Amino acid sequence: MPKSIPSRFFYDAKGSDLFEQITGLEEYYPTNAEIALLRDHAAEIAALVGPHVSLVEFGSGSSRKTDRLIEALPALASYVPIDISDAALAGAVSRLRSRFPWLRVMPLHGDFNAPLELPRSARPQKKLGFFPGSTIGNFTRDEARDFLKSSRSLLGPSAAFVVGVDLKKDLDLLLPAYNDRLGVTAAFNLNLLARVNRELGGTFDPSLFAHDAIYNETDGRIEMHLRSLAAQEVQVLDDVFAFAEGETIHTENSHKYTVAEFQALARSAGWEAREVWTGDAGLFSLHYLTPGS
Ligand code: AVJ
Repeated sequence: MPKSIPSRFFYDAKGSDLFEQITGLEEYYPTNAEIALLRDHAAEIAALVGPHVSLVEFGSGSSRKTDRLIEALPALASYVPIDISDAALAGAVSRLRSRFPWLRVMPLHGDFNAPLELPRSARPQKKLGFFPGSTIGNFTRDEARDFLKSSRSLLGPSAAFVVGVDLKKDLDLLLPAYNDRLGVTAAFNLNLLARVNRELGGTFDPSLFAHDAIYNETDGRIEMHLRSLAAQEVQVLDDVFAFAEGETIHTENSHKYTVAEFQALARSAGWEAREVWTGDAGLFSLHYLTPGS
C-alpha cells in the first residue's frame, strides 16, 4: 500500500506560518499572480455580484487576499472565513476586525471537506463564495467536482462563486515553485513529520526523509512526497510503519488546469462559467461562476 497523509494536515500553526512564507517566495508565482488579478478585477466582480452579499471564503488562512474584495464589495453584509487552522483563523479575524471595524466577521473553524453549515445570521443574504489560492487543486478532479456541487447547495440559488485556479504551464516555471532555493517548501513538507511526532508521539527522524516535488503529466498535477533515505521503522501511537529506502509518503496533490478544463469541470458540477481573468502572463486564472439553470 502506498503511504499518504492528506494535505490538510499541513496546516497546524507552524505549517500555516510556513505556508505564509511560501507565498512570499520569489519562485512561488501563484500568490502574486492572483493578488494582481484581484486588484485589477475586484471592482468588476463587485459590479457583477451587486450589494449586500455575504462573503464566504473556503480555506481563508491569513485572509490577506480578501482585503481587495472586502474593499470593493458595496454594503458587504458579513464575512465568513472558513479554515482548518485555529491559529490562522484567529489571527485573520483580529486583523480584519481592526482594519474593517464596520464589518461583521463570523469565522467558521473546520474542514470544508466535510458538510458545513453557515452561521444562521449569514443565511438570508445572497452569498459570494470565494475559494482562492488554487486550493481546489488539492482535490482530485472527481473530488473537485463533488466540492463544487456541495458548495453550490451551500451557497444557494442566487450565489456567485469566485475560484482561483492555477494554470498548466511550462515546467521551468512550475517546478521551482515547489522546489524553492531557500528550502521553505521542503520545511513545509517535513513539518508534517514533526507534527506527527508532536501530536501523535511519533518517532520520525525528519533528517531521514527528503522533500520531493514532481510533475505527474498523466494526472496534470504537482505531487509532493517525503522520501525515506534509509530502510527504517517508525512508530506512531500503537502502529509501526516500515519504510524501504526510497519509499515515499505522498503528502500533496496540486492539480493544474487549462481554462477550458476548469470551465468544463465547473459546468459538470452545475455551475455556469461566466467570466474568467488570467492577466497578461497567463500564470493563474480567476473564475466567476453562477449557478447554472
Ligand atoms: C495552497 C494548496 C494551493 O498547492 O500550491 C504550496 C500549497 N504546497 N507549496 C499549492 C503548497 C506547496 C498550495 N495550495
